[in-house]
Amino acid sequence: MKYKQIPFIIGLILLFFSCSQPGKDNSVEWKKEAAGVWKIKAGSPDKLNLLSELTITPKYTEINNLGDIELPISKDEIRFEWIDGKTYIRFPLDRDEQIYGLGLHFKTVDQRGRILRLHVDHYGDRDNGRTHAPVPFFVSSRGYGALINVARYIDVWVGTGVWKDSKNPPIVRDRNTDRNWEAQPYSDNLEILVPAEGAEIILFSGTNMQEVVQRYNLYNGGGVLPPRWGLGFWHRVPTLYSTDDVEKEVSEFEERNFPLTVIGLEPAWMSHSYPCTYEWDKERFPDPVKFVSDMEKKHIKTNLWMNPYISPTGELFDKIDPYTASHTVWNGTVPDYSIPKARQILKEHFKKHQLDIGVSGYKMDENDGYDYWLWPDVAIFPSGHTAEQMRQIYGSLMMDVTTQMYREKNLRTYGLIRAANAGTTSYPYVLYNDYYNHRDFITALINSSFIGVLWTPEVRASKTSEEWLRRMQTVCFSPLAMLNAWADGTKPWSFSDVSEEVDAIAKLRMQLIPYLYTAFADYAFYGIPPMRAMVLEEGFDAESEIIMGNLHATDNPYAMVAKKESKDQFMVGASLLVAPLFAGEVSREVILPKGNWYDFYTGEYAGNGENVTITPGLSRIPVYVKDGGIIPLYPPIAKLDGQKYPLEIRCYGTQSASYSLYDDDGETYNYENGDFIRIELKYEASGGKKDSSVTIPEGKEPWSFSEYNFRYMTP
Ligand code: GAL
Repeated sequence: MKYKQIPFIIGLILLFFSCSQPGKDNSVEWKKEAAGVWKIKAGSPDKLNLLSELTITPKYTEINNLGDIELPISKDEIRFEWIDGKTYIRFPLDRDEQIYGLGLHFKTVDQRGRILRLHVDHYGDRDNGRTHAPVPFFVSSRGYGALINVARYIDVWVGTGVWKDSKNPPIVRDRNTDRNWEAQPYSDNLEILVPAEGAEIILFSGTNMQEVVQRYNLYNGGGVLPPRWGLGFWHRVPTLYSTDDVEKEVSEFEERNFPLTVIGLEPAWMSHSYPCTYEWDKERFPDPVKFVSDMEKKHIKTNLWMNPYISPTGELFDKIDPYTASHTVWNGTVPDYSIPKARQILKEHFKKHQLDIGVSGYKMDENDGYDYWLWPDVAIFPSGHTAEQMRQIYGSLMMDVTTQMYREKNLRTYGLIRAANAGTTSYPYVLYNDYYNHRDFITALINSSFIGVLWTPEVRASKTSEEWLRRMQTVCFSPLAMLNAWADGTKPWSFSDVSEEVDAIAKLRMQLIPYLYTAFADYAFYGIPPMRAMVLEEGFDAESEIIMGNLHATDNPYAMVAKKESKDQFMVGASLLVAPLFAGEVSREVILPKGNWYDFYTGEYAGNGENVTITPGLSRIPVYVKDGGIIPLYPPIAKLDGQKYPLEIRCYGTQSASYSLYDDDGETYNYENGDFIRIELKYEASGGKKDSSVTIPEGKEPWSFSEYNFRYMTP
């Protein structure tokens, strides 16, 4: 053999190996799943993904009912490459396109221009992708969205990278002389790095962004419909409270006629916590059966705190031991919830100590991070899933096990959790955290609506009565109205100078239950988020505005631009717009979408497609109603005692309108088999005359309403 031929032969060998490497698959397959929904299988995706371990069934019929619609981008605009065992994905971006979602952020809404590593964690004051629900789903203002269904830490560059062969490149400018020079030049792509040999991507199209979100939510099984009691007022007591302490506290709520539908117990209800036994403490709660049933007699549900780490002092420890990870957390073992046997053992334990004695649900804490308080990424799980994968889905798995357990008893639960991910839209859990910034809490509430999760801006303590009242006002317009007094022992009436206003807002929360319950039914049946970002609302066109930062060369050497965006007002249900105020503010600007809007409290006209500056006073949170808005209200009750209540039906504006009021038994899953009603409330306005009607489907009886009294709010 001549030496000259050697490189050629080596080349041939290399080519042979690169083509025949086992498992190497660089194909991209597209499959249409339903009207406006496509699945892409690119390369060799992991078997485990964000949805694979969950009990969810896409609502294909409801998706198809939305109608067929093409994707606004063509298939070949989504590019894939595989390098070094990783998948590189590129989506196109238009000049004015905006990107929402990609996790539960607390400071920003529009994600264009951001770099994120989507990683389950406790939020740490920076929108960098480390958060409680780092859902890899984005919604584009072009009318489509994409879920990167991979349970790994995913990097996303949302319009930051500039390709040298860009078809639409940014203008090259001279920083020395050109005032329009930009530190972050225009980018025409959204790029994703998946640290795996493939990815499943699910694409959703829509006539507008809300429809994209609806398809996404329906694909995840539809939104959750909480039990009716879940929409009342929740109070969590200090950690060390005993049976007597809780009973005293509940009596005080009753004496003051302050709303209360759920009492939450914190770690010390348990015989041992951090790590946990999930068994009642015999001293503080000597008779848990009686305790829970006494609460039930008062129409108060019991919710219990827990975290995932198992204590060697309890009866569960030995049973679950073979199914736990290599590392402990807070000296407790970490169950591998992805193993069916482990799930069964946990369910049996939870059933025995909680469900069978009437506990209504859990607050599942500390399944998110911080890194120091969790298993490391080198931990080994007996299922063989990596610690990274388990981190991304641990909260989802806990939701699945507990929800299935309640479902087996045909009972709905509603609780709290600190970690979620894609696929958990139908699960009855609301996210919360230890971060306590009121303004950022509202931004998170807005962001939750893009990614199919729920968030509560829970109230804990406050420096002033003004802050206390402002926080109470916003939490009462959220998915879970809760005072979490675990650390401070604060009572709703602790700030006496605003106690009347706090009472009024908690009562308004109770009054709104029929409206909120209907909003949640629309989430479950149609995928419409009950609390929504303004950009999902038709007629709202306040795009985020780029403003140049304060050009101080030392503080801001690259003159980074800042974004002014709408992140402090949101929609609740079909017609309410909520514009909170924060401590220290006496006035604010509200952006009213196109169409007439009216003041919720007075019915007065407020504006149409304009920015209005308001000075509303401390006692009320500004709320506006869309023209034709119909708001059914309960009386200002303190408990939900199973009675039927007369409805006050407030009608706003000058348009004829109708509203499809939802009702069912409020606590079982029978509604899934058709055991529910939609009552049509109609309001006709013609030639100065007003008329109304109530249509109850024949042969059906409402569960919750006794009378229908219309009230015309707008003269
Ligand atoms: C925290 C949780 C708090 C409270 C506390 C009890 O992790 O966020 O709400 O439950 O644990 O130890």
